[in-house]
This record gives sequence, C-alpha cells and structure tokens, in this order.
Amino acid sequence: MSYPRIAGTGSSLPERVVTNTELAALVDTGDAWIRERTGIGQRHIVDESESTSDLAERAARNALDAAGIDAGALDLIVVGTTTPDRIYPSTACRLQARLSAGECPAFDVQAVCTGFVYALGVAEKFFRAGSVTRALVVGADTHSRLLDWSDRSTCVLFGDGAGAVVLEASDTPGVMSTHLHADGRYESLLYVDGGTPRGAGRTAPGGAYTKMQGNEVFKVAVRTLHRIVGETLSANGLDHNDIDWLIPHQANIRIIEATARKLGMPMERVVVTVEDHGNTSAASVPLALDAAVRDGRVQRGQVLLLEAFGGGFTWGSALIRY
Ligand code: UT7
Repeated sequence: MSYPRIAGTGSSLPERVVTNTELAALVDTGDAWIRERTGIGQRHIVDESESTSDLAERAARNALDAAGIDAGALDLIVVGTTTPDRIYPSTACRLQARLSAGECPAFDVQAVCTGFVYALGVAEKFFRAGSVTRALVVGADTHSRLLDWSDRSTCVLFGDGAGAVVLEASDTPGVMSTHLHADGRYESLLYVDGGTPRGAGRTAPGGAYTKMQGNEVFKVAVRTLHRIVGETLSANGLDHNDIDWLIPHQANIRIIEATARKLGMPMERVVVTVEDHGNTSAASVPLALDAAVRDGRVQRGQVLLLEAFGGGFTWGSALIRY
C-alpha cells in the first residue's frame, strides 16, 4: 500500500490588506464587533488584475520549491476552489499549463470551505490505489468576488488566498486517513446564487453573492466539527493526546475554540490564522498549515489533525503524520 506524505507546503496571499476599520466605512460595523464575534482583524483581498489561478500558481510554486520537486514530475493536480477563473477550463487545468506540468490529470473539486480537505481526500485515494507517485493539492479562493459589499453580515468575514501541498508516495503514512461528508439539505443556510440556473437564459442575471444565516451555520458547524474530529481519532485508535497540532478551518475564532475545547486540546496546540486572513474558504486550512510549517511550529514526525466545514454543507478531516 502506498500513502501520500507531505513533501512540501506553500501559500500565497494578495498584497492588499483590508482592515476592519476600512470596512466600517462601507457598512455599519466596527473593529470591536468583528474582533469579538469572529476573531478577524484584517483580510487580504485581490485587486482587479488578480485571479484565483494567480494565487494558486504562487502557492504551488512555493510548495514545489519546498519539496524540491519539478512540476514536470507531477502526475496529479487537484484544486479545491469555488471561485474558478472561468466556468471551464478548470483552475487545475490552467494551473497545469502555467506550471508546465505535462499531461497529468488535473481537475477542480468544489466543496467550498472544505475544498482543500476534499481535494486531499481525493488525492489520497489515487495514492492508495497506487496510481500516482507525486501530486499537487491546492486550496485557492477569491471569495471576495462573491461578496455583497453592502451586506455587513457576510462582507466582513472573508478574505482571499491560496495554500498548496506537494504529496509524494511513501510506504508509511503520511496521510493516515481522510474523512469526507456532505449534507445537501442545508443549502438554504449558506449559498451563492449564480451559475447556469434553469430559466435564466444564457447566464444567471445579476451578480453572485454569498447569502448566509450565520447564526444557524455557526451552530451546525460547532456540532459537526466535534463529530468529525471524534470520527477521525476513533478511526485511527487515537485520542487528543496523540495530536500535536489541530489545524482547523479559519471561519471564526469562537468555532475554533469550541472545537478545541470539546476535543480537550489547549489553544497552544491549535494553529490560528483567522485574525490575519479571515475566512479564505478552501485556502484556509493549507494557509494555516504552511504558516505553521514555515515558522517552525510543525515539525517532521508530528501528528496533525486538519478539519474544515463549509457550504453544501460539506465537512471533512485529515489525520497526517507530517
Ligand atoms: O466558512 C464556513 C461557514 N461559515 C461559518 O462558519 C460562519 C458561521 N457563523 C459565524 O461565524 C457567526 O454566526 C457570524 C460571525 C456570521 C455572526 O455572529 P453572531 O454572533 O452569530 O451574530 P448574529 O448573526 O446572531 O447577529 C447578532 C447581531 C445582529 O443584530 P441584532 O439583530 O441583534 O440587532 C446582527 O445584525 O449582530 C449584527 N451584526 C453585525 N453588527 C456589526 C451582524 N453582522 C454585523 C457586523 N457588524 N458585521
């Protein structure tokens, strides 16, 4: 059996930083409310010239450099994104061309904030089947393009970014297990109009904006993330003492703290980037992973528990020996 191990990580953020105070000039909000209710202090937002694949490419190149692997040696590219540059070709195909990564399979996975964890889970199955030896897995989103900047209940929450890992086949884990779930019955609590709906003619009318009943989403997220971390630990016969780092989706510090508390993990062993990045959707988990690898918190041999929850609803986790 072949397992994927993380050979290198990378990430990328747009240069432009938008503070809470700047948002208070657009909508009726304030730094104190945003910090207290979400833990967010600022977010990075793309300028008009940047796209999801620009961020994905920079993150991918950083991860390939860290791994010491040439893009031409990749035999799989999976990108988790909900904000592709185009409806098609996929962001993964555009990325493959930009990286000159040959003719390996390349495709996107759309699971909103769980996009990276889903992409990792899909890639893991390719390794387990023995079909690939080197893969690039990216989470990248420009969720700012899906925001109504007059809606204070959503526009303060999201930021843009990309994170990537290069995976390499190994006889020992590596990625020990991934756990993916969805429940489509919750669509009304979190969705973006747009796409190619019936009856709309050639394209959807108007813009595509995030609509969320935040409070309801919050409750389901806390409940569900508690379940998924429990599922992941028991599938591997472990408990929270065996985990060196919890690397959660960065939607809200209160959700992160609730998950850590229920798991029995002290916050010193939780990677938190929400203050600086906001919710970067599919990029959130790999951005946090890369930050903790690069600042030396995450060390080789340590056990990492990654988890995410997002629109769909989708949720998932990965247990990794780094
Ligand atoms: O990434 C995947 C999915 N997303 C999430 O996981 C997000 C989950 N939800 C949340 O993080 C939180 O529910 C929010 C941060 C979105 C909202 O926090 P909350 O504590 O649940 O607030 P709320 O929605 O219950 O609203 C409380 C009050 C309301 O005012 P009233 O009705 O009590 O007068 C809102 O209108 O806060 C008001 N409010 C704001 N006030 C200042 C909502 N947004 C803002 C804002 N600034 N930006």
